[in-house]
Amino acid sequence: MRANHYSVHEPLWIFGYGSLIWRADFPYLESRLAAIDGYARRFWQGSTDHRGVPGAPGRVVTLVDAPGERCWGRAYRLDPDQGAAVLAQLDHREKNGYERLRLATLLDCGQRLHAVTYRAATSNPHYLGPASLQCIAAQIAAAHGPSGSNREYLLELQAALAGSGHLDEHVEALARLVMALPVA
Ligand code: BEZ
Repeated sequence: MRANHYSVHEPLWIFGYGSLIWRADFPYLESRLAAIDGYARRFWQGSTDHRGVPGAPGRVVTLVDAPGERCWGRAYRLDPDQGAAVLAQLDHREKNGYERLRLATLLDCGQRLHAVTYRAATSNPHYLGPASLQCIAAQIAAAHGPSGSNREYLLELQAALAGSGHLDEHVEALARLVMALPVA
């Protein structure tokens, strides 16, 4: 994880596109629907610490380059006094292969700003990469980890995106497949 430093005088925004959309377990001053352009959300990162275990990893989302696409999520404005502590907490939560980056972000009110987000490096040891939707769904349906079932992670994400009005076809297709599989 890179030790980025952010000015205490600048508002610090975090962009979430996965569990941070529906489980932001840190203090923030404001949250808004938000999007980043040129990226797509994919269940291509393995999880052995939250939604799977070593030897039976789950699959969680990462960002992949996707020119012309828009990825919707939620942006959180942090209290400048709490920014460093929140980043340290998130760095720890996402320590298994994710790297921080700062991306141009569009808020639903039209404001543009830069927000910190996390992306799995394709070189990280937990990276799984693409697979057929059927294979990904079967893996998600079977996986459990310390944070709960992988199925719950997917279905909470699907529900949050559907509730926001910004359906994601990759997530929708996986949710349909997983819901047709028995609960493990
Ligand atoms: C998120 O935006 O929820 C997120 C995704 C991957 C790693 C960390 C956070």
